[in-house]
Amino acid sequence: MERKVILAENAGFCFGANRGYKAVEDSINDDIPIYTFGPILNNTKIVEGFAQKGVKVVNNIEEFKNLKKGKIIIRSHGVSKEKYEAILATGFEVFDATCPFVKRIHKIVEKQSLLGDRIVVIGNPVHPEVEGIVGWSCNGATVIENASEASEFVAKENENITIVSQTTFNRKKFEELVDIFAKNSYNINVMNTICDATAIRQAEAEQLSQDCDVMIVIGDKLSSNSRKLYEICSSKCSRTYFVETVDDLKGILGNSVESIGITAGASTPKYIIEEVQNYVRNDF
Ligand code: F3S
Repeated sequence: MERKVILAENAGFCFGANRGYKAVEDSINDDIPIYTFGPILNNTKIVEGFAQKGVKVVNNIEEFKNLKKGKIIIRSHGVSKEKYEAILATGFEVFDATCPFVKRIHKIVEKQSLLGDRIVVIGNPVHPEVEGIVGWSCNGATVIENASEASEFVAKENENITIVSQTTFNRKKFEELVDIFAKNSYNINVMNTICDATAIRQAEAEQLSQDCDVMIVIGDKLSSNSRKLYEICSSKCSRTYFVETVDDLKGILGNSVESIGITAGASTPKYIIEEVQNYVRNDF
């Protein structure tokens, strides 16, 4: 019996995460110290692996004062304008791996706030991407995460409001929240800045899990997008496994499994996906 193993087309790193990962990987052999401003990805194994190769995570700009000059890599979430300028002012070499889709939001927020608009960001207020976005407005911003916050929002008279979204926000929820603003007849300029990488990965995983005997979701246990993939897949396929590495799979598949689908969260590196793929092809 030939076992069918299907890897989802968009499993693992999105474009922006891949850019950040590559920036660190390509810098490891530089002969200067490498720093990432915050963990480069939401994956402990990757961060630890880079740490063993000398890459240091710095969480506070003040720390750079006591560090040897080197290269600072800004991760895909981006940073506020104040932090961005402070990073440039360190005099260290800087590689800005802010995802271009996030950069676009920074530009919108800066431009519209300079024109006098009030900025509303739909997203999670404590997510680093949202903190960064807020920090590009020259007059602050209101972060709205749910319907009750949207209903409680009060605009000033004749105020123009520019609404943007965190890139990974759920599209349907975004539309529902925007509707609340529209119903209140506020003067809104809606910029849908949601990135479809997550939605595409989820839709693919959902389809694949319906077509396979076993579904494997690879991701860090702390990664919320990986957990979400697991929830979606397990609602369609009762034999869905959430694994961090190939080791979590050993001895659990059995030889009657004919088809296996594989997907992976946004911060799962390719080599882990490949290890799982090779293992399930040969494990009977
Ligand atoms: Fe960029 Fe979209 Fe990924 S905004 S970091 S490509 S989820």
